[in-house]
Amino acid sequence: MKFFVDTADVDEIRELNDMGLVDGVTTNPSLILKSGRDIMEVTKEICSMVDGPVSAEVTATDYEGMMSEAAVLAKIADNICIKLPLTLDGLKACKALTAAGHKTNVTLCFSANQALLAAKAGATYISPFIGRIDDMAIDGMELIAEIRQIYDNYGYTTEILAASIRSVNHVKDAALIGADVATVPPSTLKALVKHPLTDKGLETFLADWQKTGQKIS
Ligand code: G3P
Repeated sequence: MKFFVDTADVDEIRELNDMGLVDGVTTNPSLILKSGRDIMEVTKEICSMVDGPVSAEVTATDYEGMMSEAAVLAKIADNICIKLPLTLDGLKACKALTAAGHKTNVTLCFSANQALLAAKAGATYISPFIGRIDDMAIDGMELIAEIRQIYDNYGYTTEILAASIRSVNHVKDAALIGADVATVPPSTLKALVKHPLTDKGLETFLADWQKTGQKIS
């Protein structure tokens, strides 16, 4: 499973990248707002830090506007992936951008039928939002399973990018179902390492090591 990091915070990206945990980055207008940075400047910096795709989202809602914003974003770097909303205009832009050789990420997916449309439009990635479905007291993970089955039924190559991940169990369950990618907030990505028995075991090893009076040098 590939890990994308869901942030526009360059310090967080650098830290995780140094651990080999970053296969790509996803941003959106809310994450740009949170970063307090200019979209062009911060996106360029992120693209230079990571080898994998960096999703940058258009904000126009009409086809022409999306295409003209996509042209600006695509010039930032070769690893830009154009993020588009799951609307009819977004699907049209997805088809045109994919045909022109760009990577595309169709976002704000909340149903299997929407994911089917994105695959037909040639999306590189589909982003189903797990956490926001859970927020409505519906199991968001079921959507990942449905999309996996539909894409496998017909051999669609669009990658399932599990998004709106809020917990370590979201990551595990998405991996068990077979999502291709999870885009994860930095704090959740770091939390994956935690296990009380790892901490306890390390504590015991260090205490016993002290008792030996030895040094590795
Ligand atoms: O990847 C989409 C993500 O940024 C949305 O997450 O927690 O705002 O639903 P959330």
